[in-house]
Amino acid sequence: PVVYVLNGPNLNLLGVREPAVYGSLTLDDVEAMARKTGEEVGLTIEFRQSNHEGDLVDWIQESRGRAGGLVLNAGAYTHTSVAIHDAILACGVPVIEVHMSNVHARESFRHHSYVSPIAAGVIVGLGVDGYEFAIRALARRIDRRAP
Ligand code: DQA
Repeated sequence: PVVYVLNGPNLNLLGVREPAVYGSLTLDDVEAMARKTGEEVGLTIEFRQSNHEGDLVDWIQESRGRAGGLVLNAGAYTHTSVAIHDAILACGVPVIEVHMSNVHARESFRHHSYVSPIAAGVIVGLGVDGYEFAIRALARRIDRRAP
């Protein structure tokens, strides 16, 4: 099975951007970790990042019928995007929402998520490890559903 790991705006700057908040690992490091975890649990990882909301919408649509699950860190679009919310509803693929920082301990505009109410699960505040936990959670979920 395939799992898409989708990253939104500014996550290309991981490791450079606000290291006190997001740590010093880069998105390439996160991708390598995600692929390693995928290998361990028997999932093929499709790892992508875009600064453009429409790309994320396109990729969520594309995952329909192709992916067993989605790991989504939509970055700031989490807090603004009805289009991403609608794409998740339209694609019918289970989504685990990931945020490296604990968004609930930060500014109030980060407390609301358009993804959380329709996510299979939410992981916040555990840094880049959140991606690994999300992939493992999807692997278990996909296993349970296998015939
Ligand atoms: C983030 C949290 C968002 O509020 C922020 O806009 C990001 C990163 C996180 O991973 O902690 O870009 O999604």
